[in-house]
Amino acid sequence: MDKKIFLETYGCQMNFSDSEIVASVMTYQGFDVTQELSQADVIFLNTCSIRDHAEQRVLNRLRELQHLRKKRPGLIIGVLGCMAERLKSELLEGEDKGIRVDMVAGPDAYRDLPQLLVDAESGQKAINVLLSADETYADISPVRYAAGGVSAFISIMRGCENFCAYCVVPFTRGKERSRDPESILSETRILIREGYREVTLLGQNVNSYEWKSKGTGLIIGFGELLGRVASLDPRMRIRFATSHPKDLSDELLHCMAAHPNICNAIHLPVQSGSTAVLSRMNRKYSREDYLNRIDAIREILPGCALSTDLIAGFCGETEEEHKETLSLMEAVGYDFAFMFKYSERPGTLAAKKYKDDVPEKVKTRRLTEIIDKQQELSLASNQRDVGTVQEVLVEGRSRRSETKVMGRAENNKVVVFPDEGFSPGDYVMVEITGCTSATLKG
Ligand code: SAH
Ligand code: SF4
Ligand code: F3S
Repeated sequence: MDKKIFLETYGCQMNFSDSEIVASVMTYQGFDVTQELSQADVIFLNTCSIRDHAEQRVLNRLRELQHLRKKRPGLIIGVLGCMAERLKSELLEGEDKGIRVDMVAGPDAYRDLPQLLVDAESGQKAINVLLSADETYADISPVRYAAGGVSAFISIMRGCENFCAYCVVPFTRGKERSRDPESILSETRILIREGYREVTLLGQNVNSYEWKSKGTGLIIGFGELLGRVASLDPRMRIRFATSHPKDLSDELLHCMAAHPNICNAIHLPVQSGSTAVLSRMNRKYSREDYLNRIDAIREILPGCALSTDLIAGFCGETEEEHKETLSLMEAVGYDFAFMFKYSERPGTLAAKKYKDDVPEKVKTRRLTEIIDKQQELSLASNQRDVGTVQEVLVEGRSRRSETKVMGRAENNKVVVFPDEGFSPGDYVMVEITGCTSATLKG
């Protein structure tokens, strides 16, 4: 009988995409991916280090998983991804704390998983946390074991060298590198043939994508890649994430305008509305630069949906500076946001240079104010859609109701509407009749 692997993924979309690479490597070794924890011979947690809370969740999970060893002698538990890269062999030394880990593999070490597994099975130290300057897994076809057949991720680059002061990613993911465009195009063609209707091109900073052709020396940037991917099939929706405000060019916006199947939605993390905080964060743009980019979006892509990431209580943040974040949110009128309390990460520029001096209570209050503001903005944004007709890509049944289906509008909002015999992958024109701050009803 084939052996079974259980994969659990934490963190960003890149990590989910990496888990599909891991599934591919393991399938090649004769493993089947199982959704049943109790059936697993191997359990991999693909982990995230972005905030302390993310790491604590994984450590708790590892503690909880240990009891499975009694029922399954020989069970291998492995830690993959960013925590593997950050904590390295420390993870193999947690047995006295009730956290036994059998193998550790960083984000660039997934080709080595079969060998690591052999080492772990023979009771040796199984660890590979080498970062690479050129690994992109371009030749590995992801096994999309949890994708649902409608929407897929394609990683187009890896790593990040922006070194935002608060961020651990440059340390866990290494040098920025772009993937061969031909391999991206052929992966998209396969998805089209398999009936997928939406792809999201992924990178920590997609708009700095750059590929230099070895033969001709010609350089392909993100706008050109996006255009090529979008031209493959007008029925395939294209999204991308994440864009860094400092690199969002007018060319890219014009490219989005020229291709109707590139969704009119941009995720543009601002982090803070204060120029002084942005400068301490090493974000390389000011409040004004950011608002200029928003103006360009509004001009070139009218009606474009906008979402963002925000951090409350970064080092030295004053009450005034916090208020600037609230006023910027108001000025942009975001449709959606991910909002976080600042969490100091060891080894980052901020940890070395600044004191994490905003008291926990103040951070919590500021985050609550940010969340309340966004709730207002999201509701207002959704109310603006009531009465419009949206093209919705059906993803599946609504979780709340047997008689309804759910899908996403071009602006990335979830729309729930009555099932009239629709299937996942159908495009349906839906009249929006109501909303909450989280979903549209049609
Ligand atoms: N590459 C993307 C985002 C990567 S991490 C970008 O540059 O926009 C996703 C989000 O997590 C970040 O945008 C930021 O808002 C948040 N984040 C990163 N490090 C953090 C930290 N130390 N504490 C709190 N939030 C953090
Ligand atoms: Fe982190 Fe900044 Fe890189 Fe995003 S751009 S991954 S926030 S260092
Ligand atoms: Fe987390 Fe690593 Fe992604 S730290 S957010 S899983 S790049």
